[in-house]
Amino acid sequence: MPKVNGIGWSDSTGRKLMDYDEMIRVEYTMAFGAMRKWPKWAYPDFCLFELNAGSGKTNGGDGTALIALRAALDARIPIRAWLFEKNSANADELERHVAKLGFDSERVWVVRGDHNQTAPAIAAELKRLHGAVYGVVVADPTKMELPTDIIHLLAHAPIKSRIDVFAYAQPGTIKRVRIVWGGGRFMESLRAVGLPLILLRQPHGQAQWTWAVLTRWAGYPELRKIGFRRVGTPEGDALVERLDSTIEEWRADHQSVLPFDLSDPIEAMPSIYGTLDFSPSVPSCSNGHGAAVNDAESEHPAMPITFGIHPGEDLTCPRT
Ligand SMILES: C[S@@+](CC[C@H](N)C(=O)[O-])C[C@H]1O[C@@H](n2cnc3c(N)ncnc32)[C@H](O)[C@@H]1O
Repeated sequence: MPKVNGIGWSDSTGRKLMDYDEMIRVEYTMAFGAMRKWPKWAYPDFCLFELNAGSGKTNGGDGTALIALRAALDARIPIRAWLFEKNSANADELERHVAKLGFDSERVWVVRGDHNQTAPAIAAELKRLHGAVYGVVVADPTKMELPTDIIHLLAHAPIKSRIDVFAYAQPGTIKRVRIVWGGGRFMESLRAVGLPLILLRQPHGQAQWTWAVLTRWAGYPELRKIGFRRVGTPEGDALVERLDSTIEEWRADHQSVLPFDLSDPIEAMPSIYGTLDFSPSVPSCSNGHGAAVNDAESEHPAMPITFGIHPGEDLTCPRT
């Protein structure tokens, strides 16, 4: 896999980024619908945390951070973004791209350094928020392991968190490493984040690259058209087995032939569901997806939120 400053790309990268573009647009649609439905109780900005932001570019095209910022401009959703990046050359380049898009550093902050060190102070600031905070934590690590502790910390930091998680991972590699050297399972790392609903995208390539969406929203769209399945449905559970078990483990559990060909992970998933789906190409923010949020929002009185994007700073965010 070619790499520049820790950012690599492979045959799976194009699909990763195309899918991410859909995922983040759907997320904005859902969140913005809810934020506008309960404007008095929602924190006025969508909060984006990119734990592995990169330089903004991958193999000449936009990477996840720029995709998310451009999509926010298209959706006209007010956002605050924390773009974590430990490589200083990448961070420099990312700052230039962010400025070109017209965001200032109060709204979009390139957080330099290791997110394990920088995220806890930001999570502490998030705890001071009293409104329902909509947002997403995005993990796209260089390493095989997901940074589960940091994902958990940010996703649960606000008292009334509505923060989802997008995690890009390679369960095929995790599985191989577990068999040879021991180690945890992919699904264990997702469950450790502590969000009840998990969607998994069908894997791509030998490493079984996949996106996982973790959310509290029971009505989250399944994103079937880009290959997601919901864990807890027959198809989703079959996908869990495929991502988490080796062929030998599967045979030991089922004493039967495989229902899919593990050597061809792209085409392997049988479709036993119909084609009913929420289309992910959703331009409107008032299309009813906000109705999936069924909180008792009125528990929280309207109160001004003061919140610094940089730890230690105070910034009053008037409600709109
Ligand atoms: C796979 S690349 C991410 C690419 C980016 N998401 C994109 O789509 O262009 C991983 C990035 O995470 C950064 N990184 C790795 N570990 C990190 C850490 N602990 N804290 C902050 N950044 C980290 C690397 O420097 C690298 O730029």
